[in-house]
Amino acid sequence: MPNFNFPAAAGWQAKIVPGGRRLPNETMSQTKPILAIKNLHVSVEDKEILKGVSLTINAGEVHALMGRTGSGKSTLSYTLMGHPRYKVTAGQILYKGEDLTAMPADARARAGIYLAFQYPVAIPGVSVSNFLRAAVKARRGTELTIKEFRKELREQMNRLEMKDDFLSRYINDGFSGGEKKRLEILQMSLLKPELAVLDETDSGLDIDALKTVAGGINAMTGPDLSVLLITHYQRILNYITPQFVHVMQEGRIVLSGGSELAHELEARGYDWVTQEPAATTDAAVAQALAP
Ligand SMILES: Nc1ncnc2c1ncn2[C@@H]1O[C@H](COP(=O)(O)OP(=O)(O)O)[C@@H](O)[C@H]1O
Ligand SMILES: [Mg+2]
Repeated sequence: MPNFNFPAAAGWQAKIVPGGRRLPNETMSQTKPILAIKNLHVSVEDKEILKGVSLTINAGEVHALMGRTGSGKSTLSYTLMGHPRYKVTAGQILYKGEDLTAMPADARARAGIYLAFQYPVAIPGVSVSNFLRAAVKARRGTELTIKEFRKELREQMNRLEMKDDFLSRYINDGFSGGEKKRLEILQMSLLKPELAVLDETDSGLDIDALKTVAGGINAMTGPDLSVLLITHYQRILNYITPQFVHVMQEGRIVLSGGSELAHELEARGYDWVTQEPAATTDAAVAQALAP
């Protein structure tokens, strides 16, 4: 199957909408890609999971990656973070023009990539407060004074409606789904990444927690932050509006569009994406036109 997602080329990028039209994207012409994934193939234990993913994210853009369970979304996020089990067998990942695949996971984090996992791990014995302070030091390279750190922490915690006693608890130990996700967003707000990959940040959240978490993410978006929001459901996209929506199926991005595509997926499910001849034909035509 052809890959319907085009890398940026010579100052503009193709954008495929469900109708198959190819639009020059004015907002992209002045920006440089923060992330450029080109024909990425990834295997886990010799099984190929990603089969040629191409995706370009420019500075300040919010992209949603949607798709059924098992389509390869989390595999892409682990690969971006440099998990040793996920082997890049072909293709390229460029972060700010630099080859990411050669960079160890900790260097990626220091370089400004933040990954919120679908299943955050508990770290009994390490308090939230100590963990966050160490993480901020590692990312920024300088240590904040306790006073500075507390001040910044308080501001962010107020925004996320988190209570003070949270700080002395152990990382994710006995946390509710909502608490885990709030901690991720709190951590992100302190680390100030340039690229955030948020894997199913909406899972396990009730509607109030979802609104708070989405509000936290929205407060951070802007020209200095690009977001790849991975989600199975359209729900969180009622609160965070991506400029681009991509659909992954069987390790490939099979359709890309604007935010309206998320609503279409919500209404129609995922089957039509590959079953409908029109979607395939339009995309194939668009690819044939690609530079
Ligand atoms: N560590 C792993 N070991 C073996 N298979 C894996 C591993 N991680 C993912 N897979 C397989 O890769 C496919 C894609 O999984 P995943 O990336 O988690 O999809 P998604 O996040 O879209 O639900 C699935 O078939 C899954 O079973
Ligand atoms: Mg997943």
